[in-house]
Amino acid sequence: MNNKTVLLTGGMGYIGSHTAVELIEADYKVVLYDSLSNSSIDVKDKIQEITSKKASFIEGDVLDTELLTHTLKDFNIDSVIHFAGLKAVGESVEKPIDYFENNISGSISLLKAMKKANVKKILFSSSATVYGEPEYLPYDEDHPTSAVNPYGRSKLHIEEMLKDVCTSDQDFSAVCLRYFNPVGAHDSGLIGENPKDTPNNLMPYIAQVAGGKIKELKIFGNDYPTIDGTGVRDYIHVMDLASGHKNALSFLNDNYGWHVFNLGTGSGVSVLEMVKTFEEVNQVDIPYKVTNRRSGDIAEFYSNPNKANKILNWNSERNIKDMCLDTWKFQINSKS
Ligand code: NAD
Ligand code: WQD
Repeated sequence: MNNKTVLLTGGMGYIGSHTAVELIEADYKVVLYDSLSNSSIDVKDKIQEITSKKASFIEGDVLDTELLTHTLKDFNIDSVIHFAGLKAVGESVEKPIDYFENNISGSISLLKAMKKANVKKILFSSSATVYGEPEYLPYDEDHPTSAVNPYGRSKLHIEEMLKDVCTSDQDFSAVCLRYFNPVGAHDSGLIGENPKDTPNNLMPYIAQVAGGKIKELKIFGNDYPTIDGTGVRDYIHVMDLASGHKNALSFLNDNYGWHVFNLGTGSGVSVLEMVKTFEEVNQVDIPYKVTNRRSGDIAEFYSNPNKANKILNWNSERNIKDMCLDTWKFQINSKS
C-alpha cells in the first residue's frame, strides 16, 4: 500500500489529469492544484469516475505562494509534480512576459512554498523543445540545448533553476521530464485534450476536422527532407507519459540531485502517416490541403528514450493506432 501524497500543479489539465488517474490507481493520494485557466472543473468528477477514488482539488494559482504553502502543509505533501504553465509556442512569441510570469515566476513561487513547507522532491514537465535545431538525431539527454522561443526559454530556465536548487541543498531532488509530442486520451474516453480555443497541435486539430468542427486540416509543408515530405515527430500516448511519471516518482523517492529524462517512443511518424492512420482506424475522412511551412517548424525530430527505459524501467507500450482510436473516442464523447 502506497501512502504517499503528491501535489499536481496543473493537475486538471491534459497531462496532469491522465497522470492523476495513473497515480491514484497506484494508490498514491493525489491533490490537484489548478487555476482552471486552461481546464474545467468537470475533470475532477471524471477522474473520480474512472478511478472510483477521491482526488482532492484546490483552485489556486501557482503564483499564490501563501496558498501553495498552506496546501503543501495541510495535505502533508511528499512530492510535487509541476505541470502548471502556459504551453503555446506561437502565443509565447506574442506574449513573452505572460510566459515568463506564469512559467518562471510560477516555478519560483512553487519553490519558495516548497522550502517553507520543507518539501524537497519535484518532477517538472519539461519539453523536447529545449533541444532546439537538431545537431544529431535521435535526441538524447546529452544533446546541446537551445531555446528558440520564449516558451522554450522558460522551460530551459526552470530546468537550470532546479539544478541550482539541487546544488544548494543536498537533500533536494528534481527530475526534469522532456516530453516529446503527447497525444491520445484515456481509453474510457472520459478525459482527453480539450483545447479551449482553436487547437495549435496536430492531433486535436485532426480530431476536430474529423468531428466536423473544422472544415479541413492544413498540412504545413510537404517539401521537407522526410519520408513523405511532411513533418516527422515522436508522438507518445498520454497514458504512456502518465506511467513514465509514476516510475519517475519512484526514482525521485530513492535519489537526490538533478536528473533529466526523455519521455518519447523513439520512433518518428509523419503528418501524412498520422492522418492516414486516423482515417483507417476510425473510418472517418480527414480532408486536408497542403499549405506553406509553419514558421519555426523543424523537419524531423524524435527521441532516444534509452535512459528512461533503463533507469526508470519504463517503456512506451501504445502505438499510433491506439493514439488515434483513443483521441477519437474522447472527441465523440466530449461532444455528447
Ligand atoms: P494544459 O494546459 O492542458 O494543462 C496545464 C494546466 O495548468 C491547466 O489545467 C491550467 O489551468 C493550469 N495552469 C496554467 N497556469 C497556471 C497557474 N499559473 N496556476 C495554476 N494552474 C495553472 O497543458 P498540458 O498539455 O497538460 O501540459 C502540462 C505541462 O506539460 C505544461 O507545463 C507544458 O508546458 C508541458 N508540456 C506539454 C506538452 C504538450 O504538447 N501538451 C509537451 C511538452 C511539455
Ligand atoms: C506536429 C507536426 C507540424 C498542426 C509543439 C511544441 C512543442 C511541444 C509539442 C510543448 C509538425 C504539423 C501541425 C497543423 C500540421 N509542446 N502540423 N498542421 O510543433 O512538434 O510541437 O507541441 O512543449 O514545444 O512546439 O507539434 O502538433 O504543433 O506539430 O501540418 O494544423 O504537425 O508542422 O510537423 P510540434 P504540433
